[in-house]
Amino acid sequence: MKRKVLSILMAGCLVIGSSSMALAAEKPYSKCTNDLCIVHPKPKTEKVLRCKKIHRHNAKCYKIIVNKSTKLETAEKLLLKKMNVNRALKDMSYLSKTIGPRVTGTNEEYQSAKYIQKQFRLMGYKANIESFQYQGSATGEVTEANTAFTTRVFRNSPTTAGITSEVVYCGLGSVDEFANVDVKGKIVLVQRGKLTYIEKVQNAIDAGAAAVVMYNTSGTSATSGQAVADGIPAVGITMADGEALVARINAGETITLSVVVNAPEMITSWNVVASQKPIDRKDKNNSNEIVYVTAHHDSVPLAPGANDNGSGTVAMLEIARAIKGLDIDKEVRFVACGSEEVGLLGSSAHVANLTEDEKSRIVGSFNADMVATAYEPCSELAVYTNDGKENAVTDAMSLAGKKLACLSTDTVDYNGDYDGPMGSSDHVPFQNAGIAASLFINVDPAKKDNPRSAIEPYYHKPEDVMSNVSKARLERTIKLMGLAVYNTLNVE
Ligand code: BES
Ligand code: ZN
Repeated sequence: MKRKVLSILMAGCLVIGSSSMALAAEKPYSKCTNDLCIVHPKPKTEKVLRCKKIHRHNAKCYKIIVNKSTKLETAEKLLLKKMNVNRALKDMSYLSKTIGPRVTGTNEEYQSAKYIQKQFRLMGYKANIESFQYQGSATGEVTEANTAFTTRVFRNSPTTAGITSEVVYCGLGSVDEFANVDVKGKIVLVQRGKLTYIEKVQNAIDAGAAAVVMYNTSGTSATSGQAVADGIPAVGITMADGEALVARINAGETITLSVVVNAPEMITSWNVVASQKPIDRKDKNNSNEIVYVTAHHDSVPLAPGANDNGSGTVAMLEIARAIKGLDIDKEVRFVACGSEEVGLLGSSAHVANLTEDEKSRIVGSFNADMVATAYEPCSELAVYTNDGKENAVTDAMSLAGKKLACLSTDTVDYNGDYDGPMGSSDHVPFQNAGIAASLFINVDPAKKDNPRSAIEPYYHKPEDVMSNVSKARLERTIKLMGLAVYNTLNVE
């Protein structure tokens, strides 16, 4: 029987190759002692890459990809035909226009989760909403008579129902600056800079102050940093408000402020998890491995999040549609992650809930984030990993790129090759758990070594809307990533 793609465990590592290749009985090159290993003769053609399981057992392990044809096979062509970018754009329009900004913990984020769950269920997947909770940031007030300043409460700040006192200006908040003033029981005003936030707050505590108000030294937002746990309340204000207070104090005015710090609230957020296991058949040799596809579905306040990350979410949905019902030999799990924008919280919660056994069975995790910008210079779909190393996922993407190179045009290049290190998205918790994972994102190829400067100008802005999204680039993502996922799933 000729199998299209053959998976063999070699030296504890996944080996993908064609069974029609000659497997001459040469010296095996496994040095691995892991029980899982099947020692296999050396194949004819080989490409040696670092093993996805290198951390788990034998440092001598390598992943070998053998005789991988870069020609599109008939089954792959059929898969590509199933993918429908117009349907994906409809999903994106629902998420970004009908729902709008999908901020963590809001009703809009929940509506987004419900919509995604419904799409998965319509395709025939088992799909659950996975809720998780986290502690939001505390709110607070700094007021002078009836005037309220813009504030941000420092992390770890103790709460207070209200401290009212004369405010004493103490410069940068150094030990020397506190030495010559009496701040006992009073609110101190310090400016940001030179010392760490914690050092300034600690110096204020040592001098006997009751609360710290710190003002920013740039921009228009209130500053925020780390307070001393079990110390005194600490709140940030803006540069403009801080400088105005300093000018009045320096002019001899006595100013009274009130500081309030409320307890942080618990926030609930939602992932959507859809999965499909391989069909159990007598004539089929299923593996117990798992392939993940992820994309965050939340957005930041005021940003409709068409590209960040409606694009990744709908690409994931379209890949799920194309793969549904195929005779896969591994389990596939799709996760629309919540609360990515406030610290990768949804993916972290999901990974934290996996058992050691599940983690050890995950072959790779494909993460799409900002994969359809129409911003002309961001013409490339870059492939990044958090640890800056290639892995099973980047290999699969690179091979898909070679297979799809024939689709490249003047404006859309189907190159899926690895590009370097980048975190900042939901592949990070997976990689931190020892799982091969990769981020796909549109960048300006001229700037891709510094991804933060290489992305679209609509990032986290109200301009992140459908009219700034490219249908051709979304289609490229769906095809490249879909083909890479399909080949990793080993379809008969
Ligand atoms: N889509 C971005 C990730 C991104 C931004 C990747 C720029 C590459 C370049 C993502 O949604 C995001 O904004 N992430 C946060 C993560 C943070 C809260 C841990 C970020 O980078 O600020
Ligand atoms: Zn994003």
